[in-house]
Amino acid sequence: MVKICCLGAGYVGGPTMAVIAVKCPDVEVVVVDISTARIDAWNSDTLPIYEPGLDDVVRRCRGRNLFFSTDVEKHVDEADIVFVSVNTPTKTRGLGAGKAADLTYWESAARMIAGVARSDKVVVEKSTVPVKTAEAIEKILNHNGRDGVGFQILSNPEFLAEGTAIQDLFSPDRVLIGGRETPGGRRAVQALKDVYARWVPEERILTTNLWSAELSKLAANAFLAQRISSVNAMSALCEATGADVAEVAYAVGKDSRIGAKFLNASVGFGGSCFQKDILNLVYICECNGLPEVANYWKQVIKINDYQKSRFVNRVVSSMFNTVAGKKIAVLGFAFKKDTGDTRETPAIDVCKGLLGDKAKVSIYDPQVTEDQIQRDLSMSKFDWDHPVHLQPMSPTAIKQVFVAWDAYEAAKDAHGICILTEWDEFKNLDYARIYGSMQKPAFVFDGRNVVDSEKLREIGFIVYSIGKPL
Ligand code: NAD
Ligand code: UGA
Repeated sequence: MVKICCLGAGYVGGPTMAVIAVKCPDVEVVVVDISTARIDAWNSDTLPIYEPGLDDVVRRCRGRNLFFSTDVEKHVDEADIVFVSVNTPTKTRGLGAGKAADLTYWESAARMIAGVARSDKVVVEKSTVPVKTAEAIEKILNHNGRDGVGFQILSNPEFLAEGTAIQDLFSPDRVLIGGRETPGGRRAVQALKDVYARWVPEERILTTNLWSAELSKLAANAFLAQRISSVNAMSALCEATGADVAEVAYAVGKDSRIGAKFLNASVGFGGSCFQKDILNLVYICECNGLPEVANYWKQVIKINDYQKSRFVNRVVSSMFNTVAGKKIAVLGFAFKKDTGDTRETPAIDVCKGLLGDKAKVSIYDPQVTEDQIQRDLSMSKFDWDHPVHLQPMSPTAIKQVFVAWDAYEAAKDAHGICILTEWDEFKNLDYARIYGSMQKPAFVFDGRNVVDSEKLREIGFIVYSIGKPL
């Protein structure tokens, strides 16, 4: 029986291992983490992350061939294949601060593996890492491992998106495996390929050299984020000219070379990875003496920041240049629908912008807790992905921030509504009821283009949508 151990029971480690376990009943999969709270939650009825379909997959194999444990060293030692899916945040201090990936968690995981392993291991980079990380990891493993114990390192980046993780894992566009071009390297690639081949068609399992696999992950995220910044840049021009960004994106996406997906204009992209991975890419380019390439990718982030501040400016300027003392309802705080994840959500920047102008902000999100919202609004940039001791334990509640239990409560007596996450429920709210409970004139700023602006105008709202004529 093949034994797999995964270090890191987060958004990637948990769902990915659950799917491997459900698809390979004869493989034992143990997910380990240094966070006892996270492991306890994985072993409970309330999983630590909200992801459609995940509960069902976990229920089908937990206790059968899927286990969650804090006994990290024991399970690493017993495994044949060790996935490492720990966080790789942006460095907050020292060399490369604000750009480079912080590999502290990765390095300590590698040292631990080397220290405890008593048999050969295939070590798989699942986390997103800078290109050439495998070289450093190999050195750490080989210099610190016991005599006679061999390590093969593979790069197997993950391409799942939150909210559709289970679907993406069941039916991936591709699985990418990079390894050394040596007999041992090839055997390790084959061993991992055999696991995925249980449910992924052979032609979708790509094998490359290590550096191509590592770089492809950063490149894929950069390309995806670039599409959003491209359409968001167009949205500004649409607002200035009277074109409609949805019509422009539709027409552009009809070109089969461009394609229709991932062209929704928005208040800006969020999530734990796009910004982090592009900053990492920028840093690698700079370190390799390629400032022009670095600047090219930096622009994707600049446009994203511009889009968020443009949104705040639009709210303030249209509400007679001041929101001081006015209640603004924020509908949606997660970085996208169908997740409770708030990492780098554009809602943080928008709320901070409104609070900076002294607004009172009333927030509703179906999946995000009040504690999480207060924590996010109190934290400094990039601190969220670092250990809990850096985060405010119980943040001092920001007085101008209120968290509501539904959209109607959030909007009551508000002067304006900002829709910041595209939750389906926001499409079908009783907007006439909401209008009746608001101050007048009542504004809607649709940061996700989810509402029918014409219908809302008929009710009496003043509606601003991203990239649409007024
Ligand atoms: P996460 O923060 O949700 O999970 C990481 C987990 O690793 C945490 O629970 C942490 O306690 C644990 N950990 C840290 N050091 C450890 C150690 N030494 N031993 C055991 N556990 C340890 O992060 P995530 O979102 O799952 O992302 C993990 C990696 O995958 C990152 O590199 C990220 O860029 C990449 N990635 C994320 C996504 C996504 O959608 N979130 C998608 C693709 C790739
Ligand atoms: C993204 C990638 O899609 C995954 O392939 C990748 O594995 C993952 O990052 C990662 O490396 O972490 P994720 O961030 O979970 O996945 O979600 P996306 O669906 O990509 O959305 C990211 C952000 O872009 C969200 O804020 C979303 O609302 C925004 N977005 C997306 C738009 O504004 N417009 C679009 O057309 C699409």
